[in-house]
Amino acid sequence: MRIGVLTGGGDAPGLNAAIRAIVKRCEKYGFEVVGIKYGWAGMLKPETLELEYENVKDVVGIGGTILKTSRTNPLKTPGGIKTVAKTFKDLRLDALIAIGGDDTLSVAKALSDSGMNVVGVPKTIDNDVSETDATIGFDTAVNTAMHIIESLRDMAESHERIVVVEIMGRHAGWIALHSGLAAGADLILIPEEPFKIEDVVKFVEKKMASGQKSLVIAVAEGAVIADYKGLVTKDTSVDQFGHVRLGGIGEFLAKEIENATGIETRAVTPAHIIRGGPPTAFDRMMATRYGIAAVDLVKGGKFGLMVALKAGEIVTVPLSKALSKMKNINK
Ligand code: F6P
Repeated sequence: MRIGVLTGGGDAPGLNAAIRAIVKRCEKYGFEVVGIKYGWAGMLKPETLELEYENVKDVVGIGGTILKTSRTNPLKTPGGIKTVAKTFKDLRLDALIAIGGDDTLSVAKALSDSGMNVVGVPKTIDNDVSETDATIGFDTAVNTAMHIIESLRDMAESHERIVVVEIMGRHAGWIALHSGLAAGADLILIPEEPFKIEDVVKFVEKKMASGQKSLVIAVAEGAVIADYKGLVTKDTSVDQFGHVRLGGIGEFLAKEIENATGIETRAVTPAHIIRGGPPTAFDRMMATRYGIAAVDLVKGGKFGLMVALKAGEIVTVPLSKALSKMKNINK
């Protein structure tokens, strides 16, 4: 048996732990593993890496992905699916394990629908893939964001300022909510709960009137300002999956608060800092369990499925179900 493995979309801490587990499990079963480089781009224009235990034995604690990644979408490339199918054949693959978020997995599903033997593993710091309690990278991103918010609180308290921290997470507020709560932020703004600037200003004024001298606000990059023209974005460009580049809501909000209240307000955007660095023990363990489960699915001839975490157990769900909707915070 010869299995391909790829990582697509944004990098995330824990990807290497999953790759390592896949290689180790394959070795146990006597399967060969081929690493496909640069996500789906590596299936369009083949770029591979033969994976053996020697290549992966020391990567469990390293962030990013040794296979590299991209946001390439074969469904947006003329003849993309056919080209991927040809590469699958040329590489003599029996199955492909795709590790990624909803974008990468939506391609996996399309390929599975076309008859290819594909298994999915959920990864994204955003944690917005349905049918799983957690995706690879989320726990690490939350912990990193929590430490950043705590550091900024020290500054805000010492200088008696307000600080607005903009946290990644696209259209789901999981990272902002979890890191904000864990760090004791005064206010957390998430996409699931549109807000008005005037309400934020009122909240700040009330806190200050009660004697508080500093304030920490966590805002998700995709938070929605009611009555505003749309999301706050870097520019109008979109990637191959149709996503805009979010960013700027923290700066915007900080200016609005400072103008309305006269209180010095700083904006900090950790951006990709929360997507890098060594994975937490939780992410390493979960990614390892996902990797093992994915190879076991292949061994059992079960495809079109995604491995998932539910109440501490590793389970499998149809890719179609996992991709039917985005997992948002339940109000
Ligand atoms: O999907 C993960 C994520 O980090 C989002 O939180 C963020 O909006 C996006 O990727 C940024 O993507 P890029 O690294 O391509 O700018």
